Amino acid sequence: MTPSFGAGKVILLGEHAVVYGYPAIAGALPLGIYAHAEAAECCALRVPDNLDEKQSALLQQAFEKAAEFAAWPKVALRLEASLPMGAGLGSSAAVSVACAKALAAVAFAQEAHEAQLEKTNEMAWRMEQVFHGSPSGVDHSTSLRETLLWFCQGKVQTLSSPVPLNILVAMAGKRSSTQTTVAQLHTRQKKWPGHHKRLFEEMGRCTEEARGAIEEGDLPLLGELMNVNQGLLAAMQLDSEKLAQKIYRLRRAGALGAKLTGAGGDGGAVVGLFENPEGPLEALRAEGVDCFACQLAGPRAT
Ligand code: PMV
Repeated sequence: MTPSFGAGKVILLGEHAVVYGYPAIAGALPLGIYAHAEAAECCALRVPDNLDEKQSALLQQAFEKAAEFAAWPKVALRLEASLPMGAGLGSSAAVSVACAKALAAVAFAQEAHEAQLEKTNEMAWRMEQVFHGSPSGVDHSTSLRETLLWFCQGKVQTLSSPVPLNILVAMAGKRSSTQTTVAQLHTRQKKWPGHHKRLFEEMGRCTEEARGAIEEGDLPLLGELMNVNQGLLAAMQLDSEKLAQKIYRLRRAGALGAKLTGAGGDGGAVVGLFENPEGPLEALRAEGVDCFACQLAGPRAT
């Protein structure tokens, strides 16, 4: 059986604000999670050996939510990752989507494509809720659709760009879990609701404007808005020295804009927008930076 793929994702604008009902723009990565399936006596997931006890239990619990929805199809799954885990690149959503697709392929094989997609989405969403508590839904939506997406309050729209939208992603070290960072922001937001509302509103405006910039192919404006987004995330205390160093490194390498991506906090990943990321990618790799480049949207060279 061909393995089922759950794509990783990168948030270009709007992380965290999206949890509070503001829009976000996210793109799917070519890296992700593969779920290999084989016929079995009972429905099961082989938990990867490199997970600790707590992580294994959480993964098992999440898988059971999806398996239960699919009425326990007789299939055993094994996961394989081509994506850095727990780094802000949507690995839990990618696991959820890969498992949900593999289960749906057996349990809902007879159903029409749309119905199958809806059920796959529901299973991935149930798994994400186990992983994150109260996720916005942007991660699994992007992972499932594998496109550049506008996401707001559960509604999605595909975005297209008339020019290639190239990014470089660099890793900025270990970080706390998304759930912890989201909870810490929630505590501050409860304490100081007024100024957080202003910051979220401004981030929402940046994301709205960025949508226009993407559709117009105005990369300098998109980069500028990503920088402003970073400033707002920093104002919410979601950046760190490790993230800032990598962001400034990307800007020095010629990024039109650079910011943290995903939950951020004490580490994770940063994203830079480039007209051509090849040179900077080589330079950063030569310095030992763990990074990769990819195209999120727009016409591709044949
Ligand atoms: O760091 P990640 O890949 O788990 O992304 C989290 C994105 C947030 O906006 C911070 C949370 C959410 O549920 O949207």
